[in-house]
Amino acid sequence: MTRRRLAHAWPYATAWALASWVVTAASSLQAQAPTKTIWDGAYTKEQAERGKHLYAEVCARCHGANLIGGEVAGEVAPDLKGVYFMLRWSDTLSRLFVKIEDTMPKGEAGTITSEETADIIAYLLQSNDAPAGTSEIPPNREQARTIVITRKPN
Ligand code: HEC
Repeated sequence: MTRRRLAHAWPYATAWALASWVVTAASSLQAQAPTKTIWDGAYTKEQAERGKHLYAEVCARCHGANLIGGEVAGEVAPDLKGVYFMLRWSDTLSRLFVKIEDTMPKGEAGTITSEETADIIAYLLQSNDAPAGTSEIPPNREQARTIVITRKPN
């Protein structure tokens, strides 16, 4: 009797196992390229320190010493800190990397290197309360795809 019930239960168990496998497989497929978020420790303290100096030299005159943004010659240099900044750049880190490396500093694009871009982003993450970790943000827009910007987890 018991055996028979088990035999009946078996297809259901299989269906469940299969369904959860499909769900797991689908979500891991989705997460294939990105491997961590900025809340997992995506930069090092030293990198953010280098970025801080670069930011002060190159970016602060428009975006403000406190990253709160400002107005320059009738144009708005947006805030680079806070929940709206995070929302605008919720994506792989690559998008922010490309934006900065290819278009900033405004009017003088092309004057910062990939290394400097990565260092400045480390400082931006630090300023947005993301924790430091043990590896640096790679100085490479393609590799920056492995890191994802998300809103701060609750
Ligand atoms: C001469 C002023 C100026 C300087 C210097 C400058 N920026 Fe900007 N930045 C702007 C303006 C104006 C915008 C908005 C228009 C745009 O996106 O091109 C902007 C936009 C941005 C954005 C997009 C913000 C958003 O959320 O839409 C980022 C990120 C950024 N700047 C980073 C930097 C970094 C990092 C530096 C230093 C390497 C820098 N900027 C230097 C004026 C400047």
